[in-house]
Amino acid sequence: MQLTQDQLERYREDGFIIIRGLFDTTELAAMRGELERLDGVETDHMVREDAPAGSRGAVKTIFRVHEPDGPTQSPPFYAAARSSRLLGVTQQLLGDDQLYLHHTKCNRKAAISGTVWQWHQDYGSWQPDGLQKPDLISAGLMLDPAGESNGCLYLIPGSHKLGRVDPVWDDQTAYRLWVVPREQLLEIMDSHPAPVAITGEPGDVVFFHCNLLHGSGHNLSAGDRWTIFFCFNTCANRPADVPDPRPDYVRSRNWTPLEVQDLPIAAMPVAAE
Ligand code: SIN
Ligand code: MN
Repeated sequence: MQLTQDQLERYREDGFIIIRGLFDTTELAAMRGELERLDGVETDHMVREDAPAGSRGAVKTIFRVHEPDGPTQSPPFYAAARSSRLLGVTQQLLGDDQLYLHHTKCNRKAAISGTVWQWHQDYGSWQPDGLQKPDLISAGLMLDPAGESNGCLYLIPGSHKLGRVDPVWDDQTAYRLWVVPREQLLEIMDSHPAPVAITGEPGDVVFFHCNLLHGSGHNLSAGDRWTIFFCFNTCANRPADVPDPRPDYVRSRNWTPLEVQDLPIAAMPVAAE
């Protein structure tokens, strides 16, 4: 699909665009089926909720669903990652055909208990991976309706133009990560448009710049909310060597350029366990 000049301009100015209805119900059903199947896999490529000894906690995050190998491989997500709707659109937004995935992650915000992601820039965590430039875009695909009551994502328009703000480590919340310090956040909020709630329906996708400030609130609703993030980088911006690098499932070492392929997402053969 070809982006319009207006969409390209909106991305440059706001740091994000939303494209509605990119995936249909059969494709979304195939992806949901994969999340259920992967729940049965025991691997370090997954983060689970704490659970009593001897039992397995519910999944919070599943990493690396886009590769053709590994414990969390998933043909429907493999196909989605290479589709013209995700890869092709991101190539246009980045103005570069040579892209690979820094990582993919399936995030579940649990009904009632799923909690806050503090305000952050993804590049706050990714620069220490050895990435020299903020040349990354995340495509966040909604698998469930996203609204204000179930902890949807909020974005601060234009905040990507600030560049990387030196982050501080937050270990107070359930999702520990590098966050923007409170005083700076207050100043940034004072000088930017109000945060935008990224609400939508299954199949909608938000594409956003890695320096765009974002966060999400508590899921007060009765339903879990899943979002799948495909985090694309330019091959030219592959990470430099760093001491003690994060594992491959969050800092991919596969820098081969991805080729746009429109495979049948809903009909991809899924290997038996
Ligand atoms: C993220 O910012 O990486 C995840 C936010 C969310 O899933 O709400
Ligand atoms: Mn993030």
